[in-house]
Amino acid sequence: MTVLPIVTHPAEVLEQPCEKVLTFDKSLRKLLDDMYDTMIDADGVGLAAPQIGKAIQVAIVDIDDEHGTVEMINPVIMELSEEEEVEVEGCLSFPGVYGEVQRPILCTIQAQDRKGRHYQLTTSGFMARAIMHEIDHLNGVLFTSKISRYVDEEELGEME
Ligand code: CO
Repeated sequence: MTVLPIVTHPAEVLEQPCEKVLTFDKSLRKLLDDMYDTMIDADGVGLAAPQIGKAIQVAIVDIDDEHGTVEMINPVIMELSEEEEVEVEGCLSFPGVYGEVQRPILCTIQAQDRKGRHYQLTTSGFMARAIMHEIDHLNGVLFTSKISRYVDEEELGEME
């Protein structure tokens, strides 16, 4: 088990487009495993490689549902629903920052798994939101650029 240090804002690596992954080797599998340990240790539901200082197109999401851990390498958004909804989001690179973000309800992506196999995945609700948040990271887009209203921790506690 390896827990990596999480890069927090501000940092250049968080705001640049990430490089495509071309080699699916042991070091990529180790990176994915370490990212999982890091995400769980930080009590997060997603983590993108720039958040551990690597500007490559690798991200994971695990919201503890039937999808298990979704590993996304070189993910591309194929389709988004026109219908959108507003929910509160946080980010491991912004400790203590929460805000309302409007996003599509449904999203379909294409990505590769740790062995380089291509797959397509359609998700909705919180899972789709987490996937879109992580793919934004790979494009250097931070959720704070999409927050319509900040929510403080006290208000967040009342919501739960
Ligand atoms: Co984030």
